[in-house]
Amino acid sequence: MKRRHFAIPAFAAAIAAIGFTGCKGGGGDKIKVGEFASLTGKEATFGTSSHEGTLLAIEELNAAGGVLGKKLELLTEDDQSKAGEPANAVNKLISKDGVVAILGEVASSRSLEAAPICQQSQIPMISPASTNPSVTQAGDYVFRACFTDPFQGAALANFSTGTLKATKVAMLTDVKSDYSKGLAKCFKEKFLANGGTLTTELDYNGGDKDFKAQLTTIKNGNPQAVFVPGYYTDVALIAIQAKDLGLTVPLFGGDGWESSVLLDIGKEAMNGHYFSTHCAADQGTPKMTAFVEAYKKRFGGKVPDAMAVLGYDSAMLLADSIKRAGTTEGPKLRDAIAATKDFEGVSGKFSLNADRDAVKALVFIKIDGGKFTYTATVNP
Ligand code: PHE
Repeated sequence: MKRRHFAIPAFAAAIAAIGFTGCKGGGGDKIKVGEFASLTGKEATFGTSSHEGTLLAIEELNAAGGVLGKKLELLTEDDQSKAGEPANAVNKLISKDGVVAILGEVASSRSLEAAPICQQSQIPMISPASTNPSVTQAGDYVFRACFTDPFQGAALANFSTGTLKATKVAMLTDVKSDYSKGLAKCFKEKFLANGGTLTTELDYNGGDKDFKAQLTTIKNGNPQAVFVPGYYTDVALIAIQAKDLGLTVPLFGGDGWESSVLLDIGKEAMNGHYFSTHCAADQGTPKMTAFVEAYKKRFGGKVPDAMAVLGYDSAMLLADSIKRAGTTEGPKLRDAIAATKDFEGVSGKFSLNADRDAVKALVFIKIDGGKFTYTATVNP
């Protein structure tokens, strides 16, 4: 977090939250909603987008009179894309600010850090976009508004062997990211079951700048495609260096690729590559088209990415659950979120399953001519 303060151990946060139930968060004239996001640092576009989507939802809800007769107040903490900061942020939001629920994060490693604190404090947490299965395994107060990586990994494996007709594939994984490791594992399982062979499996550390050694080994294995389950800043450099080395086969990855910065850094080296993600601004559904217009109007003509949409959906899901619960009390709100069925999100219609994960479709994007183009939807 940017502001200086002392980290509060999780058990103290829990005691504080329980001690103040009834007079904090939901008890005043406003309902306080906490959000932690990577507004700065390595994955700044993830947090900026999810925050803007969340903010737009809160503003729309307040313009329509709020929830349970009260306006919503969004309190946002920047975790700077850094390990250690999510715990600080969430401890502060819960024990000092007295929020009734937490929205965040996009990156799985950072959601994993915050989830046990929310669980112990009995404050529901909804991750808009973290896809690693372990996030919601932190406990029954932790939810997500997105699909999980067993689904995404299998869809990517089918995309490889089916659409790309690539059965000999190399894989390059970020060992510093729970998301990357989890997606690599899920992809591999289904890809091998489909009859595929992994020509090379190599690692990097998120934030590395030089991938030439790994890419040279990968090239020597003659793959038909390279699977790169990483985040956009690393992926863009990988694509540039692959091109420089004459490794010209398609690269493909998951939702971690999604950022306009991927194209800003990678430029023409990104053309001809593919990724899966949660939704696409040009997917043509009426809800999406209306959202794109509202978002552009609010944020200076900017086209929303998947994190913006999921930020919006997670805030709307929380508001809908507070209405259905009729209260902001932790256990009742928890039950209402868990009971979510056929929620009409901008990202698509979804229900939460018994594991508190959203069951919903994903989309594939092709990068060509320096832009992202929606190509296909895969249903669960
Ligand atoms: N799913 C990624 C993770 O779990 C985060 C992400 C979501 C990235 C949506 C881009 C788009 O870490």
